[in-house]
Parts: sequence; C-alpha cells; structure tokens
Amino acid sequence: MMNLDENTIKKAAVIGHPVAQSLSPLIHKHWFSETGIKGDYIAVDVLEGALEQQLEIFKNEGYTGFNLTVPHKTAIIPFLDKLAPLARQMGAVNTVKINPDGTTTGFNTDGIGLMQHLKLSAPGWQQDRPALVLGAGGAARAACLGLLTSNVPMVMIANRTREKAEAIADEIGRGRIVVVDWGDRENALAGAGLVVNTTVLGMTGQLPLDLDLVQVAVGTIVYDIVYKPLQTELLAQATDRGLVAVDGLGMLVHQGAAAFKIWFGVDVGLDERLRNKLDEALS
Ligand code: ATR
Repeated sequence: MMNLDENTIKKAAVIGHPVAQSLSPLIHKHWFSETGIKGDYIAVDVLEGALEQQLEIFKNEGYTGFNLTVPHKTAIIPFLDKLAPLARQMGAVNTVKINPDGTTTGFNTDGIGLMQHLKLSAPGWQQDRPALVLGAGGAARAACLGLLTSNVPMVMIANRTREKAEAIADEIGRGRIVVVDWGDRENALAGAGLVVNTTVLGMTGQLPLDLDLVQVAVGTIVYDIVYKPLQTELLAQATDRGLVAVDGLGMLVHQGAAAFKIWFGVDVGLDERLRNKLDEALS
C-alpha cells in the first residue's frame, strides 16, 4: 500500500474519449491552488476497451480518484467494488474514489451539482411550483433525480423522443414525474417555477432551442445547462423578460466541487477567479 501523508502529492484525473476539451483540469487545479492541497489533476484519453486497465494504473499509482465522461460513465460500473445510491439510480458514474485499501466506490455528482448551483444562484426559486425539464439524456436524468430531492410537487419532462422521457419517469419517477409532449412544452411553462434545458439545443453548432417564454410566470427560474456559449438565446430571452436566467457553468463547477469533497473532504465552489478563468477558456 502507498504511504500517503500530507506531503504526498494527491493525484486525480478525468478520463474520456475525447477528453482534450475537458475543463475539469482547469477547475480542479484552481481548487488545489486555492486550498493549498498539493495535488495534480490530468486529462487522460482512454479508449473504450482500455477502461479496466486504466483503473488498475490509477490504483497502482496511488490516485485518490478520477472523473469520467463519455463513453465511460456506465461501462465503469462492473469494475467497481461499490456504488453510492445516486450512481445506482442513475446507472452512471461520473466520479470514482479509490479508497486507501485499493477498493473503489462510484458516485454520481451531476444532480447534486445542479441542486447546489440552484440554491446559490436562484435563492428565490419557488419550490411549491412544478419544474419543467427539457430533454431526456443523462443530464435530464440527473436533473430529475436532483429535483426529486427538493420540495417541488411535480417534475414535468418533455423530450422530442417521448419514449425516453417515459423511461425516466418509469425508472425514477416515484409518481412525481409527469411526461409532457414535446409539442406541448410551451403550455407546460405556464405553471412552472423552474425550466431546465438539458438538450443540446442552443449549444455552439446546434440549432437554438425553440421555446417562447411568453407564458412563463414572474419569478420563474430559467436554467440552461449549455455553457458553450454561456449566454444562449434562451437565457437572453429570459433576461429580456425579467426572469432569473442561470447559465450552465455552475452545474459543471458544482459537480466537480462535489467530487473534490468526496476525494479530499474540502468544500470548494465557483469563486470570481475561477469564473474568469473559465470565461477566458470558453471564449
Ligand atoms: P446527455 O446524455 O449529455 O444529456 P444526450 O443523451 O445526447 O445528452 O441527449 C441530448 C438531448 O437533446 C436529447 O434529449 C435529445 O432528444 P432525443 O432524445 O429526441 O434525441 C435532445 N435533442 C437533440 N437534438 C434535438 C432537436 N433537434 N430537437 C429536440 N431535441 C433534441
């Protein structure tokens, strides 16, 4: 076993394919420098067939843990010793902790990231009104699971391919997720206290999200998990209407902060300097 004391450089990483575009090294290195923890965080491009081998390398080299992105979030599960409850419910892992005895635990911090970010950036969020989630991929599943931990009476989910929304409602809904037709998304806005776009629409290179916010009630939070660009057409429209518009940088940063806490036991977040660094990296 490795002899880890406070002078040992802590090691963490993100794996994916591709992974070069990942902002996680910038974010975690910032936190190492802010907290004074001696550590390094690298991005490793790992092909689908090389996942188990890479896990062994991390164990042998004394890594504290690693993050995972496409295409490894589900494929890692058979190689792990334990799964935290949220990772089990998601069927996907974005954070692995390598324990001092070499055993591994898989976590999913995406939903926690969204909820922490919402609490900080939208304190006026009216949780007594339903939430509307657009999309039904991994990010939508994380958003729904996160929202089910709040007090919202109901989460409405609308997706172009309705069956995928039905699958999320069936698997994690516990009676509080209601599927709405993609074509009815604007009508569903009327009662919502929060709208979350988890589709790729609005991202650089994609079509904008076609959503007229005319029916949205005052005080509704409009949340776009797209962060490239930071200011999407949806958020611009929300701001024009005097609604609270929240960009996707916070979710990215807070899912990372939850991983940092799992590995190193320290609370970190989106400070001004980190936002500036990310703004620059994204521009
Ligand atoms: P992730 O897992 O990262 O959330 P994903 O699984 O690729 O991403 O999901 C992308 C989402 O964008 C899906 O909800 C997708 O809708 P479908 O399930 O119908 O494919 C949605 N999306 C992509 N292009 C779209 C479009 N042109 N119109 C409406 N929704 C779209």
